Amino acid sequence: MDTQMLIDEAVEALTSKIDDTAIIACSGGIDSTVAAVLANRAIGSMLHCVYVDTGFMRKNETEEVSKMLNEHGLNLKVVDASERFFKHLEGVIDPEEKRKVIGEQFIRVFEEEQVLIGAKYLVQGTIAPDWIESGGGSRDTIKSHHNVGGLPEDVDLIIVEPLREFYKDEVRAIARVLEIPSSERQPFPGPGLAVRVLGELTPERVETCREACHIVEEDLRAAAEEGKCDIPWQYFAALLPVRSVGVHGDVRVHGETIVVRAVHSLDGMSAHYAPIPHDVLAATSTRITNALKGSVNRVVYDITHKPPGTIEWE
Ligand code: XMP
Repeated sequence: MDTQMLIDEAVEALTSKIDDTAIIACSGGIDSTVAAVLANRAIGSMLHCVYVDTGFMRKNETEEVSKMLNEHGLNLKVVDASERFFKHLEGVIDPEEKRKVIGEQFIRVFEEEQVLIGAKYLVQGTIAPDWIESGGGSRDTIKSHHNVGGLPEDVDLIIVEPLREFYKDEVRAIARVLEIPSSERQPFPGPGLAVRVLGELTPERVETCREACHIVEEDLRAAAEEGKCDIPWQYFAALLPVRSVGVHGDVRVHGETIVVRAVHSLDGMSAHYAPIPHDVLAATSTRITNALKGSVNRVVYDITHKPPGTIEWE
């Protein structure tokens, strides 16, 4: 079917299903953005979009995502919940525990917004592989994946999923017609930088990781544009709680370690580490240690495939 017809049908279905206030969690990801724009076309300002800033977003992400959502005319509320997330994560260093706390707090914040708005409907950007792949079975939970917007099962709202029958390529086609730019973004985990800061989550350590991630993203994009390497499927930095001795000028520094991770993959299920030229890595390493003097004095490159490693470090 022609993409414009898919859009018209989805908007029509939403108009007939939703007759009262609705809420949607928007992260700026392609699925939730497409669902929100379609629902906005159907019910306008009866749709309330909530963006929860957990404190674990990438550099400038909140500003860029809210600008994009506002440009689409969405009725958007940005909730800065970062203090609350840091408070509940004090002393938590176990990766699964971190994910659990983040998932729970996300739901709490969202529920509070739902009550304030008096929403009756919940719009979600679920696509076909989301429910097909989570159809139960005996596979081990390697990591409990948290999608921003993953909500409790006993939620007292009528759930509406306009993209439920669509696959990613169809959602991308719809996004193009709706002029939603998110189709080019690299994947980013729901818990954000929280799973890229190993050890304790303090605002300072998260800021260190945020800056390093930003440098890695900028440098690898530039290297690919200059034809020095292929653009990896995913590329970022993680902060390791490993201190080593270094020097800055004449001063001895006992700083932490940044690991650069870049992989080629089709779908994230398996991955090969990306062979980035050494001169690119060396320049990135210098940029990171200069920008983060005092907190980081060593940069390493991860050459592990998946399996046995996972793409993220937690
Ligand atoms: P791993 O680290 O398991 O990651 O090899 C595979 C892909 O999934 C992303 N990832 C997540 N995505 N919620 C998500 O929506 C999560 O909790 C989560 N954890 C990992 C990861 O960035 C990679 O693209």
